[in-house]
This record gives sequence, structure tokens and C-alpha cells, in this order.
Amino acid sequence: MGKRQRLLELRTLADNDLDEVMDIEPVAFGNHHWSRQSFINELDNRLGKYYAAVDASTGQLVGYSGFWLIGDEAHITTLAVHPDCRRKRIGEVLLINNILAARQAGAKWLTLEVRVSNEKAQNLYFKFGFKNLGIRRHYYQDNSEDALVLWTENILRPEFMDLLNERISSVRQQIKVDWLAPEELPEGLELSTMFHSGEEGRA
Ligand SMILES: CC(C)(COP(=O)(O)OP(=O)(O)OC[C@H]1O[C@@H](n2cnc3c(N)ncnc32)[C@H](O)[C@@H]1OP(=O)(O)O)[C@@H](O)C(=O)NCCC(=O)NCCS
Repeated sequence: MGKRQRLLELRTLADNDLDEVMDIEPVAFGNHHWSRQSFINELDNRLGKYYAAVDASTGQLVGYSGFWLIGDEAHITTLAVHPDCRRKRIGEVLLINNILAARQAGAKWLTLEVRVSNEKAQNLYFKFGFKNLGIRRHYYQDNSEDALVLWTENILRPEFMDLLNERISSVRQQIKVDWLAPEELPEGLELSTMFHSGEEGRA
């Protein structure tokens, strides 16, 4: 019998996730990490939408992400994966979820800042068609590092949906996801069936 895939659950981030978030946050972001109070404020922020990725077999929070919706732009504010759980497509799943949730909330574009030195995260975003459209000089206060300002193209365009579909198909081969299904899926996407079609049981 083949190796069972672990099931990843996506859900809204909640106050009682914050102990686990604060275990990951300093490791993921070093000196420039958000405080617990920042997360408490963000969970209350009417512009903010935050999501948790949880290992369904253990209940462990393995990653989180979120964005602010400002007009028709979704500004990704955070995305992090537990250091022991990296390179397993969880970052991609969280990014796909952000894109779909942003689209559902009315966004046409996604944007974010990323450190010029953070090639891992840049690679992730470039895989999803983000382009570097500017630099914010000395954006990070801890070491005065510059930020690249990345943008998607219009996420409603069929070309972008094709790319997203490709990424979803690829991710699906490696990870099984209990999707936080958007109420209205964009045409051509069938996430719930795609992610539930395997025969494997929960890990
Ligand atoms: C960036 C981060 C979220 C990636 O999460 P992850 O679950 O390990 O990433 P995935 O397994 O989904 O990988 C997706 C892609 O990201 C890029 N990537 C991830 N880790 C990488 C690494 N160590 N080196 C190079 N590229 C990497 C690759 O393009 C990868 O695709 P590939 O495997 O086909 O090359 C994770 O490293 C993290 O939490 N980093 C600290 C926090 C952070 O920098 N957040 C982003 C702030 S803008």
C-alpha cells in the first residue's frame, strides 16, 4: 500500500491559535516579528482576513497567512510555515487560499513586501506569477533592509486562473487539503472535489 498523504485543514485563524503562532513567528521572522498583541489587533481588524493551516491528525498549527483587503487590492501581511514542516507545499496551499479568499472578497490584485534577501519567499511568489514592481528603501526597521514590492496581474484574468489551476494540480499531487472552500468558486476551479478525490485515509 502506498504511503498515506497527511491531511491539511484550512480554517480561519482564531485567538486560541496564538500560542502556536507565537512559537512560529520569531523563528520565521526574527527580530522583526509581530507581537501577540499585533495578532490580537489583526484578528479584530475589519480589513484583515487570517487563516490557519492545521495538521488534521495532530491538530498542530503548521502555518498561517493573511491579508488586508483595501479596495480591490489584497495586501498579504503575513505568511509563515512551521520550520519543521517546510518544503511540503504548505506555503503554496496558504498562498492559493489567500488568492481565492481575496478574489472572493472582491480583490483584483494581490501585493506584498518581501525582504530583498528572502529568496525562498520570493521564489514562492514568483511561482504564482507575482512580479517585482518596485523597491521600498530601508523598509525593515531591524536592519534597514530594502523590500521588493511584488504584485500579481489581475487575478480575474483567465491567464492567471490557468496558472492558479496549474499550481493547484501540482500541489494536489503532494498534499491532501481539507479546503476552506470559498462559497463561490471561480469558474473552472473545483477545489473541494480536487482535494477530496484521493482514496487515502487521514494520516
Ligand atoms: C517562505 C515559506 C512560507 C515557504 O513555505 P514552504 O511550505 O516551505 O514552501 P513550499 O513547500 O510550499 O514551497 C513552494 C515554493 O517556495 C519556494 N521555496 C520554499 N522554500 C525554499 C527554499 N528553502 N529555497 C528555495 N526556494 C524555496 C520554492 O519556489 C518552492 O517551490 P519548489 O519546491 O517547486 O522549488 C517558509 O519558508 C517560511 O515560513 N519562511 C519564513 C517566513 C517568510 O519568509 N514568509 C514570507 C514573508 S513575505
